Amino acid sequence: MSLKTFSCRALFKFVNHGFVALSKPLSARDAVAVASSARGYYNNTGKPRCPGQGGAAHVRVVDLRSDTVTKPGPAMRQAMAEAEVGDDVMREDPSVNELQKIAADMFGMEAALFVPSGTMSNLIAVMVHCRERGDEMIVGDLSHLHIYEQGGSAQLAGVHATTVTTLPDGSFDLEQLESKIRHGYPDPHYPRSRLICVENTHNIQGGRVLPLTFLQEVRALADRYGLSVHMDGARVMNAAVAQGVPPSTILQHTHTVSVCLSKGLGAPVGTMLAGPQDFISRAVRCRKALGGGMRQAGILAAAGQLSLLKMVGRLEDDHHNAKTFAQALLDCDPPLFAVDMAAVETNILRFRLQETSLSPSEFCARMSEVGEREEAALGQGIQVLMYPHFENSVRAVWHLGISPEDTQLAIQKLQFVASQFLKDKVRAQ
Ligand SMILES: Cc1ncc(COP(=O)(O)O)c(C=O)c1O
Repeated sequence: MSLKTFSCRALFKFVNHGFVALSKPLSARDAVAVASSARGYYNNTGKPRCPGQGGAAHVRVVDLRSDTVTKPGPAMRQAMAEAEVGDDVMREDPSVNELQKIAADMFGMEAALFVPSGTMSNLIAVMVHCRERGDEMIVGDLSHLHIYEQGGSAQLAGVHATTVTTLPDGSFDLEQLESKIRHGYPDPHYPRSRLICVENTHNIQGGRVLPLTFLQEVRALADRYGLSVHMDGARVMNAAVAQGVPPSTILQHTHTVSVCLSKGLGAPVGTMLAGPQDFISRAVRCRKALGGGMRQAGILAAAGQLSLLKMVGRLEDDHHNAKTFAQALLDCDPPLFAVDMAAVETNILRFRLQETSLSPSEFCARMSEVGEREEAALGQGIQVLMYPHFENSVRAVWHLGISPEDTQLAIQKLQFVASQFLKDKVRAQ
């Protein structure tokens, strides 16, 4: 299937209105409740303040915390309601079987498996690639697998990890990567290198797309040493759209891939793990051992089918909205923000504050609070939710719940927050 099929704007408009629920005003209380689970790696203090005293009963909420917050719209819910189902542990669910076929074809892999989450999918991949006690994987030090998955590969799979430095574009230095490969096997002092994991797009580095040449070189290195390459491609469809290639062009350089349906693609649940048939047969066993064997999972797979078939093209809109907001950060007066526009490649934006007296947590708190001054200045309350992120930055993520209008509201709020900050600073001097 060509990506061109996905890129029809008319279809996206239908998709936007048909398959997904657009963001609706939430009550301020609801919004504060959802905002209070800030997840920063090094800086996790982004506790939003409550809306101002006597503030708006309702505010417009622009939720940029993650692309995992999307909700299925009416058409997706209808497809779920009408899904044909069976017992998927017996491999008899027709909707799951169909989804797995769609995914395998789309990714250019022999087979695919529907699993409950990206975390489980990565863990299964590690378990299948690193089967012997003493096997080791090489991961980026800022990869989701290494940072945000609770060390599951060590905790549950008994697999040792060695890290390479994640570069700002999400790639690694190939010489450093090669230096991490163990050559001592079967000397009993050393683990045995088995697997290289890459992440595309790279979450912590701000949705960066791995260059195809990098992937080609990693694969050549892996082949030279008999290692496997697994891609945490939770957002690989964003990478495909950004590079204007089908996902199979990216994935030809990897042995296996994990692709999330429940992020930008808008399904409520689910991830596709894909690879060679033998790998998937073993993955089925691991999934069951981890408690991920679902029975009438076709209800979820029906949503997943729409994600793969209908939702990919609209990712372009998220990339465009993220760039619009990034440009507004640069244009902001007073100039409080630093952004590398060339690094804004997909739907995840990372930016820094140039004012040392305004921390990322303080900035996120100001963006999320709604007060009377704001309503007087902007004519309404706008609550913008984003996370303080690692290395003193802020992360904002675009998704199908955020329209161009929502992006403009977030920009208005940004300008309001920046000017209020300046006024407060002058007042304090
Ligand atoms: C790059 C990456 N990999 C894996 C995951 C894990 O996915 P899940 O939340 O479905 O476990 C995420 C989730 O945000 C992610 O960003």
